[in-house]
Amino acid sequence: MEDVFVVEGVKKSYGDSTVVDGVGFRIRKGEIYGLLGPNGAGKTTTISIVMGILQADSGKVEISGMPHGPREMRTKALLGFVPQQNALYEDLTARENLRFFARLYGLSGSVARERIEEVLTAVGLADRADDLVSSYSGGMARRTAIAAGLLNRPQGLVLDEPTAGVDPQSRNAILEHVRALADSGVAVLYSTHYMEEAERICDRVGILDDGRIRAEGTRRELVDTLGERDRVVLELDGAAADAARALEELPGVHTAVATENGVELDCDRGAELAPRIVRALADRGLELRSLTIHEPDLEAVFLHITGKALRG
Ligand SMILES: Nc1ncnc2c1ncn2[C@@H]1O[C@H](COP(=O)(O)OP(=O)(O)OP(=O)(O)O)[C@@H](O)[C@H]1O
Ligand SMILES: [Mg+2]
Repeated sequence: MEDVFVVEGVKKSYGDSTVVDGVGFRIRKGEIYGLLGPNGAGKTTTISIVMGILQADSGKVEISGMPHGPREMRTKALLGFVPQQNALYEDLTARENLRFFARLYGLSGSVARERIEEVLTAVGLADRADDLVSSYSGGMARRTAIAAGLLNRPQGLVLDEPTAGVDPQSRNAILEHVRALADSGVAVLYSTHYMEEAERICDRVGILDDGRIRAEGTRRELVDTLGERDRVVLELDGAAADAARALEELPGVHTAVATENGVELDCDRGAELAPRIVRALADRGLELRSLTIHEPDLEAVFLHITGKALRG
């Protein structure tokens, strides 16, 4: 077992409110672990504890087999961090920012120069490195922050919502960099509230809600917990409420909800049910414009487990 991150039973309260309530997970070398949760779920607090920025009330964190916390410099040196808010000097260039961070890591001279080139290339910013950060797009600034997190060639990289507020192209570039880093052996802790991202790059996902990991596994494992349910979306010409009432009577339909332009069903095997849905509507003279079957995804899992929708 090459666990880089071992987190067990971590708790943190502010006054009467417990914001991280017994969180634990392990992340192996080369693995991307997604912490998926809505606003206020406790992602940043968990990450601050994992980084040793914040002291947990209880629980433990180990990095590469060594105890870790705010005073453990040896393990801190093994980690790279990309905080939720970029910590960059806008009136310096990316290269100047990286020189400053390199000095904080105790890197200087030719070693620092090499590392700076290495991380600029890794995030695809080498050709813009001498422009002021204030002239960058949100995505470029984010990539500069990621470059800073890579300067010490970390064994464990922690990214707190790295693509929030970033244009789709930069977002894609960031996701690819993170995947490539993991493929080179880095263990990655990646927080997000974007389902598609979690589905696309995370090897395993922990669903965080109200300070607790409510479910954990690969996308497949999580989706399989829902069994063979599907979400079926119907577009109708009016009479959505009548249609929903009629469809809820069908065996295999668990819930039918009238929406703005049709009905949404939570049901068993949509493909088998589709002909019966069409017939039931036709029998009542209701016109069906389209029927789409959605296989369960993380969105469905999240809704099922928490009863909430993620933002974004
Ligand atoms: N210093 C603090 N004092 C009091 N409450 C705090 C403090 N820091 C965080 N909280 C509360 O803890 C909860 C979790 O916050 P946290 O920032 O960890 O969530 P998050 O999942 O990162 O949310 P977001 O997606 O908005 O970044 C929130 O209810 C927040 O208000
Ligand atoms: Mg946060």
